[in-house]
Amino acid sequence: MAKTAKRHRCIDCGSTTARWVGRCPTCGEWNTLVEESQLGPLVRAVDALDLSMMPVPLSSVDVSEAVAVPTGVDEFDRVLAGGLVPGSVTLLGGEPGIGKSTLLLQVLAARAAAGHRVLLVSAEESAHQVRLRAERLGPIPPGLLILSATDIGAVITAVVESEPDLVVIDSIQAVAISPAVPGERRAAGVPGSVTQVRECADQLVGLAKSRRVATVLVGHVTKDGALAGPRTLEHMVDTVLSFEGDRHHALRLLSAVKHRFGPTGELGLFEMGDLGLNRVDDPGRLLLGDRLTGVPGGVVLPAVQGRRTLLVELQALVTPMGQAQAKRSVVGLDGGRLVMTLAVLGRHAGLLLPSMDVFASVAGGIRVTEPAADLAVALAVASSAAGKALPPNLAAVGEVGLSGEIRQATNLPRRLEEAARLGFDQVVVPASSPEGPGGIELIRVGTVSEAMTRFACRP
Ligand code: TYD
Ligand code: MG
Repeated sequence: MAKTAKRHRCIDCGSTTARWVGRCPTCGEWNTLVEESQLGPLVRAVDALDLSMMPVPLSSVDVSEAVAVPTGVDEFDRVLAGGLVPGSVTLLGGEPGIGKSTLLLQVLAARAAAGHRVLLVSAEESAHQVRLRAERLGPIPPGLLILSATDIGAVITAVVESEPDLVVIDSIQAVAISPAVPGERRAAGVPGSVTQVRECADQLVGLAKSRRVATVLVGHVTKDGALAGPRTLEHMVDTVLSFEGDRHHALRLLSAVKHRFGPTGELGLFEMGDLGLNRVDDPGRLLLGDRLTGVPGGVVLPAVQGRRTLLVELQALVTPMGQAQAKRSVVGLDGGRLVMTLAVLGRHAGLLLPSMDVFASVAGGIRVTEPAADLAVALAVASSAAGKALPPNLAAVGEVGLSGEIRQATNLPRRLEEAARLGFDQVVVPASSPEGPGGIELIRVGTVSEAMTRFACRP
């Protein structure tokens, strides 16, 4: 008798195959395929019984509970358009070590200090470690509860029993569903696997909605996607926040990638110090503080990040090539745009750099990928190649087109205002630009070649 093929599911990545194979064709893991019928339903700890499952007129839906409650950490609330909504689920993603735990500990402490009961589920650090960290950050309010656990059942019990109005799970990769049968760990996937992360998140989303507790899930993600688990949760949660920065710099940027309760354009700025994260009121000080003027290769760019305008220093270094092949390397910039800008400089301004290495970077750990940075990159490269410094109070903004033309950048008035505020009195802009604010001289250029002639950087 022919054996009928049974569907199998990979307990690591969750993909299915029509028959059993030794190695999952999707994630490449060995011995992870289990017959679907044998997986059985995973036990849900959330009481799913809900008697309010009847349709109601949309106009009668109560919206009062969808009001954001401020946490007390201003920059965090600003990005969330007010604060956390009861019953909502927020995913905070970021690279390991960037400061996610620190930020949320501060959020919890601020909320608890305002008289709320809040719960930190620490699945990575012991309660002892968390207390030591919390002491560095300030007084610990009595309403801040901690549970050091990794089992999702224990987490759910703790939330139901202690009734907090804010719970933080740090991190979603470290919590897991215990196997029904001890020793049968692989049956539901290892902690941190896509299956486990999704299943735990699903239960926590159910809990957040049924108990109306604002929930924040911490997810470690890396730029190269090495820790991809939390990315698969983005559609399940209400809000996705991204915490970024360069570990070697103090500046941290918080932005909303997705937000069901408000706009996503805001940017929160923090500085990591010895006593935790502090709001940055004047990013110009942090970003331009160590700038050297009178040196070739540097120019300031008024960059737009969300709703903020940040003045950043753009630097380029052109040196004779160190290896057999000329290098083009960027930090905080789009590498493809650098190569394109160099091609335009070569073709339309006669600046050919075939045997030179070209490095371009944004100081301070900020990432600028907008086309509006092109003109500043072109000027910095030309300035370094010519060994001629640009004026110290010069900023530049504009997109470089393939014919060497300088095109308009978005939000020009905002950029010019910020440049004027920080004392920049000359700004190189596209020829089509309208008048700028008082006190600023606009240097209008139509082409890259014109810009280089203006600053005597032509080869
Ligand atoms: P952490 O919040 O543990 O990062 P994550 O949860 O994203 O992995 O923060 C990690 C770094 O922050 C750590 O290297 C130490 C540093 N840090 C400070 O510089 N100052 C402080 O007050 C704290 C608490 C941490
Ligand atoms: Mg952490």
